[in-house]
Amino acid sequence: MLDEAIKQYRPKLVSLMPDYQNPTGALMPISRRKEIADCLQRHSVYALEDGAYSHLSLDEREPPAPLQSFAPNLVFYATSVSKLLAPAMRIGGLVAPSAYVEKAAEIKSTFNMQASAIHQDVTACFLDERRGHMVSHLKLLQDTYRVRRDAMAAALDAHLSRDNGFNWTVPRGGMFVWLEGPSSLNFSELFDTALNNGVAYVPGSKFFEPGPMQLHNAARLNFASIPEQRIWEGIGRLAATLASG
Ligand SMILES: Cc1ncc(COP(=O)(O)O)c(C=O)c1O
Repeated sequence: MLDEAIKQYRPKLVSLMPDYQNPTGALMPISRRKEIADCLQRHSVYALEDGAYSHLSLDEREPPAPLQSFAPNLVFYATSVSKLLAPAMRIGGLVAPSAYVEKAAEIKSTFNMQASAIHQDVTACFLDERRGHMVSHLKLLQDTYRVRRDAMAAALDAHLSRDNGFNWTVPRGGMFVWLEGPSSLNFSELFDTALNNGVAYVPGSKFFEPGPMQLHNAARLNFASIPEQRIWEGIGRLAATLASG
């Protein structure tokens, strides 16, 4: 599919999120990473690999090696501390093909000279292995999100039925469950009703270009910021909203 898309659209760069993709939570297997790396090499096309969720593994296994490791001359691997320390820190990292490191630094500095010094200091302190903050903080995030993901999966099992055309992911990492409903359901149209019922989601259509490929019967549900008990309550409210649609 990537092969055909590259032939059709002739992009200079493709954007990919192999680890716990936003919005579906999907984790790309290693075989697919190798295929994509081969495809990029065949067409000499660059890729931006977005690793914003890579550290948020919720099961035992870590994600496979990054796509970048299979095509280091073509893939720019980007990270962020937004999902690990705090959003809006505006601190991240870029592993660029060596030929582009200097150019990338130059382009970054034309946007804002440098990231906030205090944010850089806080991040450096967190990442300092001797202090060990990051290891324990990451474990706390993973333990907390795992419980919340499992609560959301159990609440969806209790309130919605796959026999009625619903389907949802139970992601192995990240922050999101991707929920699909019967084709007649339109999550954008139901959004105001959902808000009035005290529950929110991101309509799936927001993640697509307008057109025939755009899914209206899907939604992204976030389990990361909501305590377990409120997840149960929220999924109950969501199910009631969908039943009224
Ligand atoms: C897919 C994806 N990439 C990257 C980021 C992090 O962006 P930033 O570091 O600019 O906050 C986010 C956060 O929303 C995201 O969802």
